[in-house]
Amino acid sequence: MRVHVADHPLITHKLTVLRDVNTPSPVFRALVEELMTLLAYEGTRGVRVEPVEIQTPVSPTTGVRIAEPRPLIVPILRAGLGMLEGMTKLVPTAEVGFLGMARNEETLEPTTYAERLPDDLTGRQCFVLDPMLATGGSLAAAIEFLLKRGATDVTAICILAAPEGLAFIEKELEGHDVTVVLGAVDERLNEHGYIVPGLGDAGDRLYGTV
Ligand code: URA
Repeated sequence: MRVHVADHPLITHKLTVLRDVNTPSPVFRALVEELMTLLAYEGTRGVRVEPVEIQTPVSPTTGVRIAEPRPLIVPILRAGLGMLEGMTKLVPTAEVGFLGMARNEETLEPTTYAERLPDDLTGRQCFVLDPMLATGGSLAAAIEFLLKRGATDVTAICILAAPEGLAFIEKELEGHDVTVVLGAVDERLNEHGYIVPGLGDAGDRLYGTV
């Protein structure tokens, strides 16, 4: 597994405003979208392209276009939805699928409660969007789900991660072609499973349910 922390002053600046408890939902939503576009730029470095012949006003030349099969973007419901616009702005021709993951309160295992994805993902590059890599349980389950359907390489894009979650993902997905792109790695998880210092509950802050 490859981990890439997108260390850029603009990202750190926007992250600081995002973390601030006084940042209201509309600003929070706009910042998540902006951050996502910056992270998408980093996360799509390995997007597959194919050569294409074009004609400029001056001469013929060769360029590239995004290869078939199209990349698949998979926001994890609910907080991953806040990242979708920022990603599709940058890769408008990508296909979008949805995955809802929740923790079964009896077994504490992540379960899939909603799924709208192609049945066969053979050869597809997938980009999973989930803002908070906390314990890593639901992200690992989501990535495993895509790999079982045949996805060949998966990039997870997260705004923040806890070291515990990163270590968990690394262990669970050992040997798979997985990249994790992050805005920052924070200090730790607290006893309630929140990232410290983090930004609180991303879903609540996005959708105003604080
Ligand atoms: N999910 C969140 O939204 N925030 C955290 O800190 C951890 C998980």
